[in-house]
Amino acid sequence: MQSKEERLTSWGRRGSELETMAKMEVKTSLLDNMIGVGDMVLLEPLNEETFINNLKKRFDHSEIYTYIGSVVISVNPYRSLPIYSPEKVEEYRNRNFYELSPHIFALSDEAYRSLRDQDKDQCILITGESGAGKTEASKLVMSYVAAVCGKGAEVNQVKEQLLQSNPVLEAFGNAKTVRNDNSSRFGKYMDIEFDFKGDPLGGVISNYLLEKSRVVKQPRGERNFHVFYQLLSGASEELLNKLKLERDFSRYNYLSLDSAKVNGVDDAANFRTVRNAMQIVGFMDHEAESVLAVVAAVLKLGNIEFKPESRVNGLDESKIKDKNELKEICELTGIDQSVLERAFSFRTVEAKQEKVSTTLNVAQAYYARDALAKNLYSRLFSWLVNRINESIKAQTKVRKKVMGVLDIYGFEIFEDNSFEQFIINYCNEKLQQIFIELTLKEEQEEYIREDIEWTHIDYFNNAIICDLIENNTNGILAMLDEECLRPGTVTDETFLEKLNQVCATHQHFESRMSKCSRFLNDTSLPHSCFRIQHYAGKVLYQVEGFVDKNNDLLYRDLSQAMWKASHALIKSLFPEGNPAKINLKRPPTAGSQFKASVATLMKNLQTKNPNYIRCIKPNDKKAAHIFNEALVCHQIRYLGLLENVRVRRAGYAFRQAYEPCLERYKMLCKQTWPHWKGPARSGVEVLFNELEIPVEEYSFGRSKIFIRNPRTLFKLEDLRKQRLEDLATLIQKIYRGWKCRTHFLLMKKSQIVIAAWYRRYAQQKRYQQTKSSALVIQSYIRGWKARKILRELKHQKRCKEAVTTIAAYWHGTQVRREYRKFFRANAGKKIYEFTLQRIVQKYFLEMKNKMPSLSPIDKNWPSRPYLFLDSTHKELKRIFHLWRCKKYRDQFTDQQKLIYEEKLEASELFKDKKALYPSSVGQPFQGAYLEINKNPKYKKLKDAIEEKIIIAEVVNKINRANGKSTSRIFLLTNNNLLLADQKSGQIKSEVPLVDVTKVSMSSQNDGFFAVHLKEGSEAASKGDFLFSSDHLIEMATKLYRTTLSQTKQKLNIEISDEFLVQFRQDKVCVKFIQGNQKNGSVPTCKRKNNRLLEVAVP
Ligand SMILES: Nc1ncnc2c1ncn2[C@@H]1O[C@H](COP(=O)(O)OP(=O)(O)OP(=O)(O)O)[C@@H](O)[C@H]1O
Ligand SMILES: [Mg+2]
Repeated sequence: MQSKEERLTSWGRRGSELETMAKMEVKTSLLDNMIGVGDMVLLEPLNEETFINNLKKRFDHSEIYTYIGSVVISVNPYRSLPIYSPEKVEEYRNRNFYELSPHIFALSDEAYRSLRDQDKDQCILITGESGAGKTEASKLVMSYVAAVCGKGAEVNQVKEQLLQSNPVLEAFGNAKTVRNDNSSRFGKYMDIEFDFKGDPLGGVISNYLLEKSRVVKQPRGERNFHVFYQLLSGASEELLNKLKLERDFSRYNYLSLDSAKVNGVDDAANFRTVRNAMQIVGFMDHEAESVLAVVAAVLKLGNIEFKPESRVNGLDESKIKDKNELKEICELTGIDQSVLERAFSFRTVEAKQEKVSTTLNVAQAYYARDALAKNLYSRLFSWLVNRINESIKAQTKVRKKVMGVLDIYGFEIFEDNSFEQFIINYCNEKLQQIFIELTLKEEQEEYIREDIEWTHIDYFNNAIICDLIENNTNGILAMLDEECLRPGTVTDETFLEKLNQVCATHQHFESRMSKCSRFLNDTSLPHSCFRIQHYAGKVLYQVEGFVDKNNDLLYRDLSQAMWKASHALIKSLFPEGNPAKINLKRPPTAGSQFKASVATLMKNLQTKNPNYIRCIKPNDKKAAHIFNEALVCHQIRYLGLLENVRVRRAGYAFRQAYEPCLERYKMLCKQTWPHWKGPARSGVEVLFNELEIPVEEYSFGRSKIFIRNPRTLFKLEDLRKQRLEDLATLIQKIYRGWKCRTHFLLMKKSQIVIAAWYRRYAQQKRYQQTKSSALVIQSYIRGWKARKILRELKHQKRCKEAVTTIAAYWHGTQVRREYRKFFRANAGKKIYEFTLQRIVQKYFLEMKNKMPSLSPIDKNWPSRPYLFLDSTHKELKRIFHLWRCKKYRDQFTDQQKLIYEEKLEASELFKDKKALYPSSVGQPFQGAYLEINKNPKYKKLKDAIEEKIIIAEVVNKINRANGKSTSRIFLLTNNNLLLADQKSGQIKSEVPLVDVTKVSMSSQNDGFFAVHLKEGSEAASKGDFLFSSDHLIEMATKLYRTTLSQTKQKLNIEISDEFLVQFRQDKVCVKFIQGNQKNGSVPTCKRKNNRLLEVAVP
């Protein structure tokens, strides 16, 4: 066997790029963490052995579900697995079939979604033998659908009622058999109806042939229907009393005792569940009690026993042994005891208006009793189904979508197979046929029809077996009916004989007594048996009871007795007992009824999309973890699973007509979206080309596209889903845009309205403000104008008043002036003024005579005669002095004026500054003391000087080095200062006045002075000059005035007792000290050192 990877690679080769993409995009897949293979289609190599091994491997790993394409194989685990939780439901919800590991939920989801989204009615066909898990599977499907479909109070109630119908029907229709502790003893087909949204609306249940023989007799190791045990174990004492029952099972003949208790089943608890379920489904309390009363009556019927009694006429008669039980039954059902008693003793046959009553012997009485019990129970069961249908019926008349779930008894091969097994197996045969029809045959035929290349696969078509049973002319059922209706003695043997005649040549029929020489020697077949080679195996049927069971006779006396019951339910169960409605026609036989209902079922199923769950029973022991390969192999064979896989693998996983295909996927390609103009097939071609789906992945049939790989389909589905989302987004986008725009326009409109209102309001406010401002300004202006006028008026008024006042005063003054002289009061003032005039006159006249001399220096001034003339006196003195001085000055010549000017200048320069000054005041400034013109000695000197000589005087020039004095002629002209030798008259130095910067002298009474020269000038080469002169004040004054007039600069005159002079490079300090008197007023100079020259002054 190939490894998982190899298998994957070989399989993976089939898909190319697309598959890689699918792998990338589909997050989970069937392939993830796969144990064995999840889909038998992927099995390599494919044969019975690998098939079983794969199932076993998966079973051992608790993987009980495996696919064959879309068919689910379910292997009964016989233990509860944690794979049905609500989380699992969510996991499988809305997921692709192949996306997750195989599960019954995946199939349920697929079926539900195609029902809801594609509007296809569905049916879920659950097949398999007894105990394979069909009922469980059907419940799982229902609970999954209930979990994923719509929600809401009403919907939930419908769901709950649908789900709760199961426990009720199981209690009445299921029983423990050797194969299954909860074996369904009836066939059940339930249509769940949905509205267009996929919300459940209700349902319809059809039941098929309840195995009623079980009511009166159970094979060894089996039980009667659950409800009997549940009632006895779970009912309260009160209820038991009411039903006249006892808790002890052994009290009842109809209950088998050897297996009354089933392991792991709590009958009492189940009874409560059933009661509760009945309530949910909608049974009234009295209805539920009526039902239990019927159950009790059936139980008690079994306890009626008969004893033989010989009658006088020699006929055998039966008598009820103990009438107590009968009495209680009659009390329970409200039947007259005598009526029932008679019905057990006589049989009335009506023919052609004649009534013939015959007595019943004991055997016949027992037969009648059991027939009544069986009929009562089976009719109750049918009533229950109808009652449930009434409750769960959809309340609306709108078109419904339907999901049918078929859980029918599995194929049965017992040791003793009777009419029931024959019927059951016939039903399974029909189901197999429909499976074959719908999958294998249909598949092949479709390929041929669609002109798709097909490798032929042989498969077994069981139509021939069905025909053997159901053929209207020579089918077994038809012959049984014929036999039953035939006049004369009819027994099971005559029936067998007939079979032997008619079916002898049929290859699936075998019988010991067959006239066909083929079987003459077949001693393996017992007598009174026939064997049918069913698709699932050979089954040997005991012919005994076939006729009776098919007739299903209930003596009319009994049904009439029942009809007479006051118990409403029982009465309604036997409508044929009504004497008014006597129908002499025989009722249809059980076989023909069943055939008809199976035909209806098949018709119904054919209109729906089938989904298969093939249940497999792993062992006969009802035990977990045991996988009996032989048993499984047998089931696989008769279920034709291998052929199923072959067909799947040879063909294409999916097909769809071009129109719906194009309709579904056209949005995936630009050319086909939104409309494709041409034929659908070419549209699909364009679509597939555009989507770049590898050509080996699909084929074009006549009317359908065939897709080889489910993955390709899922890829398409995913693309479509994505595209739908995009389209939804687009719609959403446009809608949002529209909504936003509408909103925006509304906002804009509103904004304009608001703005208009606001502007109006603002303008109004502004206008009001402007208006009130204008009013204020206006009022101010008016006020101002008014005040102005008022002021003017007031002014005018005041003027008028003033004029009046002035005029009054003026008139007053004039009048007073005119009349003053006539008043004494004025005399004083007049006298005073006169006296004053006199005094002033006298003062001035006296002063004229007392005037002092005209000398300006005369200080005399006559004393003041009157105090009040003090200021006048002083002023007069001042004016006089000024006048006297002017007079004096007016006498001066220009010469004298110059001299005085000089004197005045000297006084301004030196007065109070130099001690020498006062002595100079009295000395006239002569200037040229040395008369150069007259002295011939200085003729040369005089010639050298062309300018006017201002000073010519002999001075002592102080030697700079030692302080000794030398006489020099000091000459000052308009522009120069000249020094000449006193003796020779030779010019020693000539200094332009511009070079003289300063004259320094002491504050003492000495004639020493220094002439400072401009630094760097030619004259200053030896340094500043130091002189001593008797006419220092005059010389300094003249030097100052000449410099001022010539250079327009004031000569700096420094008066200080210590100053600096410049000798060549040295700065020498000239310091004046108090000296002796020996040289008179001439100072003595002494050069103390380089820096100091001391001048001793007197
Ligand atoms: N999926 C499952 N998980 C656990 N146990 C299961 C499962 N399916 C079946 N079983 C067990 O197997 C038993 C038999 O199953 P079920 O009653 O469904 O069989 P069936 O096919 O309906 O038989 P019949 O034809 O006799 O009615 C159940 O009672 C249950 O114990
Ligand atoms: Mg079942």
